[in-house]
Amino acid sequence: MASCCGQPIISRKSRVGQGRNDNSTRESEGKMKFTTMTLCASALLLLAVPAQAAGDPRAGQLKTSMCAGCHGIAGWRTAYPSVYSVPKLGGQHADYIVAALKAYKSGERSHPSMTAIAGSLSERDMDDLAAYYASSYSGAAN
Ligand code: HEC
Repeated sequence: MASCCGQPIISRKSRVGQGRNDNSTRESEGKMKFTTMTLCASALLLLAVPAQAAGDPRAGQLKTSMCAGCHGIAGWRTAYPSVYSVPKLGGQHADYIVAALKAYKSGERSHPSMTAIAGSLSERDMDDLAAYYASSYSGAAN
């Protein structure tokens, strides 16, 4: 028995019958442990949520075959619809990349290639790709 709980139990023992007292003590201790465990579990869940929402860089890397024809080739310019520099994705903030992809998909931002490509991506794809370009990408700057 933990020493911090010793004192109240002894004083209760002198007032109430021993058997009943022991049971109720054990019961309330169990409840306390359960509450502590629940609180810890909720704290862990809260910590885990942002990591999940941020996307998986390794899954993202596998999806870059769609992007690597333009992004990630040093000095690359697309010729369609006009000669165009391809903006850099590597090291960009994940939120920025996701926001840009969503804007292409919704039509808020328009570029023929990017609108078509973003239209084929799910939010999960966007999160994964953004996580990869933000954290693990090591290719050419664009
Ligand atoms: C056909 C060439 C091409 C392909 C393939 C391509 N992009 Fe792009 N991307 C571009 C061009 C060109 C722009 C600049 C368009 C503009 O000015 O809005 C661009 C812009 C972007 C932007 C906005 C960047 C910024 O700084 O504003 C993001 C994010 C992006 N692409 C992500 C991707 C991802 C992820 C893929 C693969 C799923 C991909 N792109 C595939 C050509 C391409």
